[in-house]
Amino acid sequence: MNSTPLLSHVLHSNQFDRTTLDYICRLTDAIRQFDKSKDGLMYLQSLLAHKRAMLYFTQPSTRTYLSFESACHIVGVKPSEIRDSATSSEMKGESIEDSLRTFSSYVDLIIMRTPVPGLCDRIAEYLDSTSRPVPIINAGSGPDEHPTQALLDIYTLTRGFKNRDGIDGKSVVLVGDLKRGRTARSLCKLLTNYKNMKLTLVAPDQFKITDDLRQELNACTNIEFRETDDLEASLPGADAIYMTRVQDEYDLSSGESKAVDYSKFHLTYDHLDRIEDHAVIMHPLPRRAELDRRIDNDKRARYWRQERNGMWVRVALITMLFNANHKILLPAL
Ligand code: NCD
Repeated sequence: MNSTPLLSHVLHSNQFDRTTLDYICRLTDAIRQFDKSKDGLMYLQSLLAHKRAMLYFTQPSTRTYLSFESACHIVGVKPSEIRDSATSSEMKGESIEDSLRTFSSYVDLIIMRTPVPGLCDRIAEYLDSTSRPVPIINAGSGPDEHPTQALLDIYTLTRGFKNRDGIDGKSVVLVGDLKRGRTARSLCKLLTNYKNMKLTLVAPDQFKITDDLRQELNACTNIEFRETDDLEASLPGADAIYMTRVQDEYDLSSGESKAVDYSKFHLTYDHLDRIEDHAVIMHPLPRRAELDRRIDNDKRARYWRQERNGMWVRVALITMLFNANHKILLPAL
């Protein structure tokens, strides 16, 4: 089947179905082939050299920002940036809608990271109602969603299980602050597209998944999931272990996170003995103490590759938003 799904915005995980996920993984693989030669890279750069993007990042970011900026460079898109709303006319009382409509006058794509859940959807809907709509990419919306991270996680899992029939039927353990961690939340949603999945959600009582996600997972017949606070017991048999840090920037009262003993949710060097030989260890990064640095050199550690995969998946998404994906030849299935 030669299906080429259409993409007008990247806003949340639930917009992606299995066909689109498989297509994004294949497209990303194909795009990476161009990285092998100067001619290939020059070809990629020519694809969207007539386009401009605004990176509007009003929450801290290192890798997501840089990987989007690099993805823009790879396909020739010229990026500009606002990284602090204090430097925009929002400070003069301009509404966020007006600010983003202003950006849309100058660029062809807006990539935004914001602390406000749902804002990207609101802006996309608003711009779609104007005479000059531009695509919006959600690069993280508060504790709510981080769809492009989840897509790169899916790509990393797909590659990790390449010789083991892909993601279907695998057991994935997600660990940490699953209440406020948007990456784990978005990834759980994407995993509902795969068959016979086993999810183990390991979190302290205070940071268990939110009810809306629990209901979504319960309603999904493809997924068997359980919640626990026992990391050690969850490691044997896992095909993937997805670590996350405590999201204390969302504490409602000061010291809320400090009251939780997060050390029980740290993956230590000694845990490696309990982890399957074929398993993959992932982390969206940045990490703190929850992932021992000595694990970096273990062959199961995939987080640095995962980080780099992000750039290529973002290249794939940008080409899809502008229909330039048709200029990338996909290998036959
Ligand atoms: C994550 C985020 O911003 O949600 N970082 C990232 O984009 N890779 C994870 C985190 O900050 O813990």
